[in-house]
Amino acid sequence: MSRGLFISFEGADGSGKSTQYRIFAEYLKQQGYDILLTREPGGTPISESIRSIILDPGNKEMSDMTEALLFAASRAQLVSQVIKPAVEQGKIVLCDRFMDSSIAYQGYARGLGDCVRVINEYAVEGMQPDITFFLDLSPEDGRKRNKAAGKADRMEQEAIEFHDKVYRAYLSLAEIYKDRFVVIDASGSVEEVQERIRRSFIERQSLRSEK
Ligand code: TYD
Repeated sequence: MSRGLFISFEGADGSGKSTQYRIFAEYLKQQGYDILLTREPGGTPISESIRSIILDPGNKEMSDMTEALLFAASRAQLVSQVIKPAVEQGKIVLCDRFMDSSIAYQGYARGLGDCVRVINEYAVEGMQPDITFFLDLSPEDGRKRNKAAGKADRMEQEAIEFHDKVYRAYLSLAEIYKDRFVVIDASGSVEEVQERIRRSFIERQSLRSEK
């Protein structure tokens, strides 16, 4: 059986990433692909328990390193229990956030640096996404959308500068990992953004099949 495909969706809070990821999954299903949806932090019972610790607004005393390790622990479980077996069975796995989130939020924005990438190299056992859709929306526009949705978990309560750093981190990751990052303009209507994602996916698939 041939190997499947691993696609991650990344973006700052309020970028519309989760909505786009769900609609894209529906589209792939209609196209007849065997898909599996998952999200981070979470996606397995153990990872969901870790998620509730991380995002609990009451856990104000959590150290930055604890946070980074919890994200990595949640991810390690998800990779070994869900992502790796599914890709090996030939499925298309769509993940709402993956390792790039840790590099952007914990590595750059929290300032923990390159150790975050190193820890995560161990956590993911070599499972890097084949495609990473980065939903590119300016931090100001992201804030407006979040405010309208009334969202505020522990990460979303962070200061404006924190989210600006996250955004800049993603832009540099898109440069560093040019081969797998696809930058999607996330401004405009839900339909317009979805169309951009589909078009890029189709283009990349036809390039893959030419190889
Ligand atoms: P979630 O409610 O899933 O937010 P979103 O819809 O924006 O994905 O909460 C996840 C939060 O955790 C989000 O603010 C990003 C943050 N995060 C990290 O800081 N590091 C990570 O490795 C991951 C996966 C998420």
